[in-house]
Amino acid sequence: MKISIMGAGYVGLTTAACLAEIGHEVLCADNDETKLRGLEAGRLPFFEPGLEGIVARARRNGRLRFVEPAAAIASEGVLFICVGTPPRDNGEADLSAIEAVARAVARTASGYRLIVEKSTVPVQTAKRLRKHLSAYSRNGLQYDVVSNPEFLREGSAVEDFFHPDRIVVGAESPRARELMTAVYRPLLDQTFACPVHTDAACPEQAPPRLIVTDTNSAELIKHASNSFLAMKISFINMVADLCEAAGADIDKVVEGLGSDRRIGPSFLRPGIGFGGFCFPKDLQAFVRIAENFGCDFALLKEVENINARRVEQFVAKVQKELWTLRGKKLAVWGLAFKPETDDVRFAPALAIIRRLQAEGAQVHAYDPQAREKAAQELSGVRFHDDPYAAADEAEAILLLTEWSEFRYLDWNRIAAAMARPLLFDGRNMLEREVITAHGLHYFAIGKEPAAPLLARQSLGAALAEAAS
Ligand code: UDX
Repeated sequence: MKISIMGAGYVGLTTAACLAEIGHEVLCADNDETKLRGLEAGRLPFFEPGLEGIVARARRNGRLRFVEPAAAIASEGVLFICVGTPPRDNGEADLSAIEAVARAVARTASGYRLIVEKSTVPVQTAKRLRKHLSAYSRNGLQYDVVSNPEFLREGSAVEDFFHPDRIVVGAESPRARELMTAVYRPLLDQTFACPVHTDAACPEQAPPRLIVTDTNSAELIKHASNSFLAMKISFINMVADLCEAAGADIDKVVEGLGSDRRIGPSFLRPGIGFGGFCFPKDLQAFVRIAENFGCDFALLKEVENINARRVEQFVAKVQKELWTLRGKKLAVWGLAFKPETDDVRFAPALAIIRRLQAEGAQVHAYDPQAREKAAQELSGVRFHDDPYAAADEAEAILLLTEWSEFRYLDWNRIAAAMARPLLFDGRNMLEREVITAHGLHYFAIGKEPAAPLLARQSLGAALAEAAS
């Protein structure tokens, strides 16, 4: 099928490349000329595992082309709107980029167009788009507007495209429903050659569920899903605080809680709070949407409040151990809002660094991917090429993004090089026994702090010696 994509951001570019991979002919457009030139030269504007290869292959076989917006709008076929909907000051989504695409389509296109809203938008946006298209239509345009919300996670967006749990389509005519089913037919029938699991069988053999609804419901599914997940995280973070205060172990509590099939184990990892461009903005937007329809979604306001407090609480924990932070060297491992991405938008690590700096600390940071993007946002931070250099002479290590490389380090070397061997694990990713066995104090979330084993052993030995 012929498909045009407006917007070459995370969602647009991943969708464009993956739709080309399953056999469609895709034009991908963006208003940002520099981004387009970069993509034509094979440079992706962000890091996403596996995407570069898929984009390169799709360009080689001619199924993916980067074009000016006018060319994408003029092309017949299905038009996916993947432009940004950033938050306005009041938390509502700014829909001006979506409105501009709709106006351009109405003014210039003729014949039939299927317009697919993929960007995250408030409920009733499709309804508004229909009105708008009718109002601006010049050339007898016929159209359907469908909602097809995106559930891709950064860092596993390619995997999520090929192996989604569900595909949601809000469509209100048989023609729109048929076209959308045809777009996703290779995924629904599992007839594509999976580019993610090339050496082994795909772990998800079950085809995704196709959920067909009206457009209002599809739009609501997206905001409700993200808000629910954010709620799970804030819930477990509060339980973690309680564990820490009362001497329980959050890992055990999560095991017991998540084993109930009605609850499930996922999205119950405690830490320094959720970040990224989706959860914080979608949560705020959903609260505003509810308000606009006369509903006070106070529950979600509290989810936001709990998340906002995580940064302050984590800094207070560090302060409690180090007393004052002025002039102290602190190592920060991890800047991205989560691993496998270079995205630092609303990253808790950046908020924590700013608070540490406000207390006078000297921050030495390391992140395998996000250094460049973080450097644009922060000042006064010394960036290092590896975690060892960042930890050298540090009073404490603050692990703020759970990059898997942090699991496999020479802890003896790290402990020996630090001014004080304290490790604050903001993501509970390390094994307490491993860290303490190498002489570090380990502070996790939702658990009692653990002293170094060596120190405990030598204390034990000293006591035994004194007793004898
Ligand atoms: C999210 C949704 O998962 C995805 O469906 C939607 O399309 C976009 O928003 P993303 O923002 O890429 O995806 O990241 P996700 O993996 O969901 O994590 C979001 C944040 O929650 C991260 O900061 C992560 O560290 C945090 N998180 C996640 C936790 O703190 N604990 C958890 O148990 C899970």
